This record gives sequence, C-alpha cells and structure tokens, in this order.
Amino acid sequence: MPELEEKINLLKEIPFFPSLTSENYKTIAEKCRIVNFPINTTIFSQNDPGNYFYIIQSGKVKIVREEKGKEKTIATLGKSEFFGEMALLTGEPRSASVVTLKETICLELSKEDFNTILEMSPSLALNLSKVLSRRLLQSGIEEKEEEPGQAISVYGVKDRMGKSTLVLNLSLYLARELKKKVVLLDLDLQYGDLTFILGAKPERTIFDLCQKKSYDIELIDSYLFSHPSGLKILPSPFKIEDGEIIEDKDIISLITQLKENYDFVIIDTSSYLSPNTISALDCSNYILFLIISDILALKNSKTSLELMKNLQYPEEKIKVILTSVSQEVDLAQNKIQELLNKEIKIVISFDSAVHQAILNGVPLLEFKPNSPALQGIIKCAHLFVDKEKQIEKPTSSSKFLRGLSKFRKK
Ligand code: CMP
Repeated sequence: MPELEEKINLLKEIPFFPSLTSENYKTIAEKCRIVNFPINTTIFSQNDPGNYFYIIQSGKVKIVREEKGKEKTIATLGKSEFFGEMALLTGEPRSASVVTLKETICLELSKEDFNTILEMSPSLALNLSKVLSRRLLQSGIEEKEEEPGQAISVYGVKDRMGKSTLVLNLSLYLARELKKKVVLLDLDLQYGDLTFILGAKPERTIFDLCQKKSYDIELIDSYLFSHPSGLKILPSPFKIEDGEIIEDKDIISLITQLKENYDFVIIDTSSYLSPNTISALDCSNYILFLIISDILALKNSKTSLELMKNLQYPEEKIKVILTSVSQEVDLAQNKIQELLNKEIKIVISFDSAVHQAILNGVPLLEFKPNSPALQGIIKCAHLFVDKEKQIEKPTSSSKFLRGLSKFRKK
C-alpha cells in the first residue's frame, strides 16, 4: 500500500519520533490522514478550538500570533516539523494561527488519535515536551524584544470627510491618554492641512527632508514640527510643485524608519491613489478607511476598496469608519455595508464642535473633550490599544507540562 508506506517513511524522518517498533509506526500511519492546503491558506486561527495535530510532509507554514492588535510571525516550519500540539495538550484554544507560505501537504491526526499515540509511547511524550519547551522559551525571548511600531493610514476618497480631525485627535489621544510615542505624517502632499488646522507655522516640511535623501532617525526627528499639544508632525510641502520631488521610495524609507522608533505612525494620506499614497498604504499595518453617507462618495469608496482587495490587503487591515459630516443622512448603515460588502467598524457622529475647534486652531480633544465625535475617535484608538490594559498572561510552560503529565508512565 504505497500511501501507508509513504506515511511510515515520513514518520521515520521526524526527529521527535523516537525509534518506534514497525508495528507502532504502522498504527500511527494508519490513523493519519493526508491533507493538502493551497498557498495562503489559514489552516486554523488563533483562539480556535484545537481538534487536530499536524506533521508537515512538504511545503512551509508560518506561525502567526496576534498580540495587542499586532500580528507577529513567531516561526516558520517546514518538512518533518509539526504544529497544533499545544491546544491538544492543554485543552486551551489555539495559541497562534497557522498559514501556508507554499502549497503544503500535512499528515493530520485527530485529538483522540494523538492522545492514544502519546499513551502508547511515553518517550514520544517526553520528546514532544522538549520541543515544546524550546518553542515556549523562544516565544518568551521574542516577547521581550523591542517590537516595531504600527503605521496607520487614514484614507478617504474625497476631502471634507473629517480626515484631518480624526488624524489629529487620534494621535493626540494615543500620545496623551495612552502614553504612546506617536508621530504624524502629512502625506497629503498637495493640500495637506494638519499644521494649518492647528494654527501652526512650521519652518520645514517633508520636502526639505526628502531633499537630503537620508532617513537617519536623528535627521528625521530634527525635521519634525513639535506642537505645544505634544504632537510631532512632519508637515506636507508648502507648495504643490514641491510635492513632486517626493518619490515612493522616500515614503517607504521614511515610514519604515519611523516605525522602528515610534509606537504609532499616523499617516494622513491623499485621496488621490498615486504611487506615493499606495506606498504609504502598503507600509501601513492598518488603514482607517473613512466613508460618508453620500451615494457618489460611496461609489468611489467601493472602487477604492476593490483596488485594495486587488492589492491583496488582508480583510482585517482595512477598518471602515463612517463619519457624519452633516446632519443629513442619505443611507442606512446596513445599506452602506451591503453596498461596500464590508462591515462598518465605528461611526463618528456629527458634531458642530469639530468646525468650531478648527476655527479656533485647537484640537477637538482640547476644545470639547466630551464631544460625541470624539467618542468615535477614541474607539478608533482602541482598535489598536487594549481598552483595559490587560496584562498578557504568558503561556506558562507549567500549563503545557501539566497537559503532558497525564501521558507519563506511572
Ligand atoms: P497550538 O496552540 O495548538 O496552535 C498554534 C501552534 O503554533 C501551536 O500549537 C504550536 O504548534 C505552534 N507554535 C506556537 N509557538 C511556536 C513557536 N515559538 N515555534 C514553533 N511553533 C510554535
């Protein structure tokens, strides 16, 4: 039976399978099912219940953990390696998601068969615990490493959607209330207005920085405008033609460097999907995609969302935010969601204080802290920072070893 032999041969190649008897190999091989996952398939997601254990016959997968809204690849596994053991041993949900990086063929064992096999071979349980300890240790070390910050682009298909208000107040809230290190990038290279809204007159802009063609963090920092509110802003050029010298590779270097040095890089993008805007969106971990309840703007929003889909942005990267810029509402939320085929994550309600704050050159957060519009903006911040500062419980090795102890020989 060639398939059975194939499975036995694979089991023999796996380092954590100690030399079992031929009968044992055969028993295990008979219980395994061969499953084929195309490239980019999520085999299972973090927090799913665990029902299967997998051994990779060919291909490659990445192990991805989401922590505090950030996704992190903690390992890649290839031929003869295994995954999915933790949830089966502890009864806890999956500790991470597993996604194929290539077409991947696995041997799949059900939870029950996995348990039977561990009972059959205590030395197998011991070997498994060694790999497990190494994995936990590795995850522990990585947790302590400095993680890069997150870039969040705020995008809308037209002007006057409340984009600058969201950008400024989101940044201010993250910096002031959530004590994050935040920098603001005005990438509306033609009509950027962040410093204007704050009534500020910066001396230098992104145009001056990009002429240097160097993206050393100290140099970038020296070009940031510091507003009395505490915000640090890289302003947009003073003249439309100055924006022309800025290339997509400048944008990529700039955002990459800022992410290394700040917790959050908040980007006010242009509504024009130029190569520069696309580069900023590409480099961003998330996009706050602003929409308004206006049928023409929604038509264009739909087209932009389709483009982002074609750019292969993951679904979770784009968070749709409905802003009410006037008291008139054309369409109900469910109709909008149907039209865009996308969930509205947050609604920022109409508030005349937004315009008054702009007229006074003061961020809304300072002008009217109890503004209803601000409540929506605060919700946006908490898409990226846990509301209750949860202390992440480290996955303690004792929990896993407890799971394994039941297989130890009495
Ligand atoms: P489980 O928690 O069931 O689902 C996610 C799987 O990712 C987990 O089991 C392990 O098999 C695997 N995994 C978790 N952390 C690591 C790591 N640091 N290195 C390799 N694999 C890991």
